[in-house]
Amino acid sequence: MKILMVCLGNICRSPLAHGILQHIADSKNLGWEIDSAGTGDWHIGQCPDRRSIAVAKKYGVDISTQKAQHFTEKLFDKYNHILVMDRQNYKDVIRLAKNEEQKAKVSLFLEDDIVPDPYYDDALFEPVYKMVEKRCQDLISKLSK
Ligand code: 4NP
Repeated sequence: MKILMVCLGNICRSPLAHGILQHIADSKNLGWEIDSAGTGDWHIGQCPDRRSIAVAKKYGVDISTQKAQHFTEKLFDKYNHILVMDRQNYKDVIRLAKNEEQKAKVSLFLEDDIVPDPYYDDALFEPVYKMVEKRCQDLISKLSK
């Protein structure tokens, strides 16, 4: 199973989803490959936001070695699922899809809700971590059957 997590900057939300899902999948020896990318290109090559690194570390997940990459159309064919954090991410990713098969891979990470952008609000990192972790557990049970 190959899953790509996508947000805007690839420094706050998608690195958490990437790190948490990889961590759980590895603990179950599932052999899954998780990665993440951003629809914006400002942070290419940077490590995650220090607040995301800190909240993940608090719960035993190390995301400090991740490096931000830009979402480009060549990534569609590398993954089974492309999970986006909010509706703007959805529009930006779908716009780059070349065919229905690529479009069908894209969905909201939370299915019918968004993961709020914590970039301008320190108090959101903890609740974002919790909601992302819960969904990662659900994805493991749903997709590892
Ligand atoms: P993310 O958060 O999309 O969860 O990584 C953001 C990070 C950076 C910016 C916006 C959102 N920014 O404007 O630089």
